[in-house]
Amino acid sequence: MRAMTKQFLEEAFTGESKAHVKYMIFAEVAEKEGKKNIAKLFRAIAFADSKLYSEAKKLADQGKDLEIESVYICPVCGYSALNSAPDLCPVCRTKKEAFIKF
Ligand SMILES: [Fe+2]
Repeated sequence: MRAMTKQFLEEAFTGESKAHVKYMIFAEVAEKEGKKNIAKLFRAIAFADSKLYSEAKKLADQGKDLEIESVYICPVCGYSALNSAPDLCPVCRTKKEAFIKF
């Protein structure tokens, strides 16, 4: 792996790690305000973000690449799926056809 790619992944991972913490704080605030579904959404986004970046960083540290063809992102909540979009977003129930393919 090129040094620049590794550096960018490490910077992205650091940024996303902070985002994960922010999402969890937002979830706590929403929960305290009685908005349980918004809290649930923030916790799900934090989990998805953390999982995807953790996997990418682990492979990058091993000098490997992710073995995927596509990444699909829910345009409503940001949920991410590898290789194919789910029929319905598990977080916000957005239909498969609305997912954005990268
Ligand atoms: Fe969604």
